[in-house]
Amino acid sequence: MILVTGGAGYIGSHLVKKLKEENKDLIVFDNFEKGHRWAVKDVEVVEGDLRNEKDVENLFENYKIDEIFHFAAFSLVGESMKEPDKYFKNNVCGTLNLLKAMKKHGTRYIVFSSTAAVYGEPENIPITEDQKKEPTNVYGQSKLMIEDALKWYSNLDIIRYVALRYFNAAGAYPDGSIGEDHDPETHLIPIVLETALGNREKMYVYGNDYPTKDGTPVRDYIHVMDLIDAHIQAMEWMKKNNQSDVFNLGNGQGFSVLEVIKTAEKVTKRKINYEITSRRSGDPAVLIASSNKSKKILNWEPQYPQLEKIISDAWNWHKNR
Ligand code: UFG
Repeated sequence: MILVTGGAGYIGSHLVKKLKEENKDLIVFDNFEKGHRWAVKDVEVVEGDLRNEKDVENLFENYKIDEIFHFAAFSLVGESMKEPDKYFKNNVCGTLNLLKAMKKHGTRYIVFSSTAAVYGEPENIPITEDQKKEPTNVYGQSKLMIEDALKWYSNLDIIRYVALRYFNAAGAYPDGSIGEDHDPETHLIPIVLETALGNREKMYVYGNDYPTKDGTPVRDYIHVMDLIDAHIQAMEWMKKNNQSDVFNLGNGQGFSVLEVIKTAEKVTKRKINYEITSRRSGDPAVLIASSNKSKKILNWEPQYPQLEKIISDAWNWHKNR
């Protein structure tokens, strides 16, 4: 059976829906602190918390778990700098409880949601997996600590893992049934679309004095469905080759904040009010992935690399929800 931790969250719920369509036998484990019940309709769910060893132990006692997609984590960069204890406890200690249960019950395979935030300020663009990893925030550090733990469990031949370093996940299920919904929302594309809908009077662009084409930060936006494909391919690759590894997931193409706003105006056919304000602390100027390794080894190819498609799927969800 497949376990999806954090399966009621944004990216996890997209994988769950896809696996359900393929009739896979799966169980979602979520504490519903960030996840949504509506995102996991018609799915078997165990409500529990990774920080609680007893919850994790009961889960593994009650289900024969063969493979894990591990999404459950806190993921707000800003919050992680105010509440480091919360991030280390949930992300790191929670995963250690999961690894302990994997060891005890002989569960061998795990795909882990890591992040571009493990690199910190990049040395070179595009970013390859072997670049130095010096997180500039607690969130990124917590994910890097987990990657290190996974490496040791793999070295000790207890597990095999793939860590996927996502760049900027965006978009929604193409049928419009589920999508991104964070509270509070801090991500650019949902904020742009909420502004287009009139739910926000205006939005703020955090700085236009970066060394980029128009002065606003550049990011590599990747469709959530392409991320999901990579998870499925990573699990297959790991099982077939009995290996562990780390991969970036991005499109290798960067868009500035103003380009995102302009594209969203085109997609929504609405004017988006924005105001330039000061920089948000800890934002690097440019983050663009090299995904050559994922393409070569996992045989992964993004199906929806166009920013317009990413935004229009997100819009389809936002306007109809
Ligand atoms: N931005 C604005 N206004 C907003 C929101 C965002 O101008 O209201 C800008 C940000 O300054 C940034 C860009 O839009 O330059 C993208 O911001 P997001 O918050 O959408 O995404 P980040 O690049 O900051 O963060 C993403 C993930 C994190 C991950 C990080 C890795 O959401 O989980 O990439 O660097 F840690």
